[in-house]
Amino acid sequence: MRKPSTILVTGGAGFIGSHTCVELLDHGYELIVIDDYSNSTPQVFTRVERITDRFVGAVYELDIRDRRALSAVFDRHSVDAVVHFAAHKAVGESTRMPIKYYDNNVGGTTALLRVMQEHAVHQLVFSSSCSIYGDAGRGPLDESTPAAPTNPYASSKWLCELLLADVCARCPEFTVLALRYFNPVGAHPSGLLGEDPGGVPDNLMPYVAQVAVGRRERLPVFGQDYATPDGTAVRDYLHVMDTAEAHRVALDHLADRPGMQIFNLGVGAGRSVLDVISAFAAACGRAVPYQILPRRPGDVTELVADAGAVARAWGWRPTRDLADMCRDAWRFQQLNPHGYAGSGRHPNGTRHDP
Ligand code: UD1
Repeated sequence: MRKPSTILVTGGAGFIGSHTCVELLDHGYELIVIDDYSNSTPQVFTRVERITDRFVGAVYELDIRDRRALSAVFDRHSVDAVVHFAAHKAVGESTRMPIKYYDNNVGGTTALLRVMQEHAVHQLVFSSSCSIYGDAGRGPLDESTPAAPTNPYASSKWLCELLLADVCARCPEFTVLALRYFNPVGAHPSGLLGEDPGGVPDNLMPYVAQVAVGRRERLPVFGQDYATPDGTAVRDYLHVMDTAEAHRVALDHLADRPGMQIFNLGVGAGRSVLDVISAFAAACGRAVPYQILPRRPGDVTELVADAGAVARAWGWRPTRDLADMCRDAWRFQQLNPHGYAGSGRHPNGTRHDP
């Protein structure tokens, strides 16, 4: 199997997808990008091109469940491998709209597999999630931890892993690497690319950043009665550029052996909500006001990766720490106080898009 060079990226305008596009373009890959912009904007591609000084490649606005449109993309381009990010990811919304999540996340993945098979494309890097471990308890979790998803988003990722494993077992031409992300945060160090949630942020780091920049008054801290050192919930935060790098390294290893392999992507260190608030305050040089509220339904006490397997298999480990994550998230927030929709000032003083 030759090393892939033309990569189709689904969900390439999203948070992790767009940073991965930068990483792949910087390493000489040719890209074909698909996104339905349901939680993203095509403006990110201007930023990706500015960072990389490269043309992103062909970009298509389509829903991957639209097999006819997807098939036309595969007809037009010679794709070596697919990196599949396209999915809904809001845990709270998934509890209210489970069918939307199963339809998009599971249905989107089966549609993609059908079209890949019809076009003899058999190499896939799949975006999975630590949320499939559910409330697995204390201590670092390795990949053998039994799945126990607690919400439809997590279940949809687990179902995708199950069907990908079965496809690999029955169709030996397929190779799949599933990467279970812990909590990717941060931004590209240029400040041009970052996390730009629509509406009120669901996730911690963008909320903290919006409080720091004055867009929101104070951060709600969901629960200080967890069995953790400071009472707030603990997660394994991973810089989005490390996350992106792991996808590039995964492409190097797709040809190692057939079948499906699963790897955790995390730093292996647990940080509480209050740790993140302090680290962000240090990065931005101002206090981040917060208020303790009751627990958020569905949240678990602690999720920390045993990240040893990917290090042993590929010799790869994340290199950026929480201070780097906060510094880069803060730079993006300062330069883009209203996200991609607003205008910002590039660090070199020039105006950039929109
Ligand atoms: C969740 C999913 C993860 C998914 C991610 C993307 C779980 C266990 N994890 O991560 O798989 O990829 O969403 O959407 O379902 N917090 C606050 N205040 C806030 C926001 C968050 O205190 O305003 C706390 C949460 O209670 C949690 C921590 O910060 O303890 C991290 O929350 P968040 O950033 O939303 O990520 P997860 O819920 O861990």
